[in-house]
Amino acid sequence: MENRAQWGTRAGFVLAAVGSAVGLGNIWRFPYVAYENGGGAFFLPYLFALLTAGIPILIMEFTLGHKYRGSAPLSFFRMNKKMEWVGWWQVAVAFVIATYYSVIIGWALSYTIFSFSKEWGEDTGGFLMGEYLNIAATPGEFGSIVPGVFIPLVIAWVITLGILFKGVKKGIEKANKIFIPTLVVMFIIIVIRAITLEGATVGLEAFFQPNWDSIWDGKVWVAAYGHIFFSLSIGFAIMITYSSYLPKKSDITNNAFITGFANSGFELLAGIGVFAALGFMATQANLPVSEVADAGVGLAFAVFPQIINEIPVFGEVFGVLFFLSLVFAGFTSLISICEVFVAGIQEKFNISRNKAVLFGGGAASIISIVYSTQGGLFFLDVADYFINQFGIALAGLIEVVLIAWVFKQLNPLQEHANGVSDIRTGLWWKICLSVITPVVLGYMMFDLLKQNFLQQFDTESGNYGSYTDSFILFPGAFIAVAVIVVGVLLSLKKWSKSTEEKKEVG
Ligand code: ALA
Repeated sequence: MENRAQWGTRAGFVLAAVGSAVGLGNIWRFPYVAYENGGGAFFLPYLFALLTAGIPILIMEFTLGHKYRGSAPLSFFRMNKKMEWVGWWQVAVAFVIATYYSVIIGWALSYTIFSFSKEWGEDTGGFLMGEYLNIAATPGEFGSIVPGVFIPLVIAWVITLGILFKGVKKGIEKANKIFIPTLVVMFIIIVIRAITLEGATVGLEAFFQPNWDSIWDGKVWVAAYGHIFFSLSIGFAIMITYSSYLPKKSDITNNAFITGFANSGFELLAGIGVFAALGFMATQANLPVSEVADAGVGLAFAVFPQIINEIPVFGEVFGVLFFLSLVFAGFTSLISICEVFVAGIQEKFNISRNKAVLFGGGAASIISIVYSTQGGLFFLDVADYFINQFGIALAGLIEVVLIAWVFKQLNPLQEHANGVSDIRTGLWWKICLSVITPVVLGYMMFDLLKQNFLQQFDTESGNYGSYTDSFILFPGAFIAVAVIVVGVLLSLKKWSKSTEEKKEVG
């Protein structure tokens, strides 16, 4: 008797997986990462990372969830008791991401409304930092809660938790069936408008022009791997959780390819749209594209409003569509991020789904208030950087090494996936996971540790974001270590008898 929640259709599952992958990372992170790391030449490391780590890990995580039919900690536990803590570590990482991801969706909600009247005026950067975020003078200070940020944050949580309360099929699947097609239509309109703007080709040239020298730079490969993990939602328990709701007769490998390529296709589309718009802006201002491109927060919330100001007709419509795209892409990802800890809590503490949403979602939403204070942006920046590098990528590395080398589980997982999938994986899958990914990620961690800690007090190389040592060590490194400690502690609590007895149901 199968009483675990299930997806209604194959399309429903694929849409939810694509919805999780396509998120804020695709729209504002990818274009800039690609541009900064060699433009057209970045596509080689990017494709390599997608094919050697992204899709192979996606297949592995889909298989884990499908075979062991549990939240990430339970699936790892059922595979090998000694791996449970990795699951909880990833759950804790997802929890931290949820706390700030929701805040960015809140900003995008505000900016959707602002677009109607171009509320930001002429000085869009000043508006963002001053009137809107009311930023604190020094990093580390909280200041007071900013109502303009707090209210949309509450709205973002009400919508997300409302969908989660409704369950897997009636909540998550239904929301994705509405949000994802709408997002695609809106985004195609934006891209068409962007590439027909004057000067769009200048931006596209800047984006695609390959700087082949960058291929020899290890950092570019590291950037590609780092991006793939966040973008594909792998390494932080999401895809294990989602695939645990698959019916027994489900394809795995083909679904993983569809999800991976859909995510990259959307990402490429976002790069084209964003750089076409930047080319337009550079042409208007008579500046090179490099002068107008900005990273992350600045790109979406300061540069885009400026572009919207300059679009001759219907700039408002372009603005509403752009920020609504961020909202929609953000929601489908945030839902998946929260489902990770909802499922984990529900199974570990043997409570109802509603209680798990209430406690897990409640805790995440209360903590997220920190980022709606005047000092919120600085905390968000540091938390995001550390959780990405030492949370997702490191947890991904440990996951792969333990599965491939320590507990030697690649063969049984491959057998399971090949038994149910249209496409059968061969030796390449095992080589990617046991050799290529550990080597590249291992190098990445070594390089990151060197950059962040060994050179920490060397003033010349400087800290991440030029923050002070104490600000880096406290919110940043503290969070990165805390998620591991929380992971280990939660794995010490025993599962209920009935959960533990059910071994492999798949
Ligand atoms: N995969 C999600 C994103 O790209 C988390 O934003």
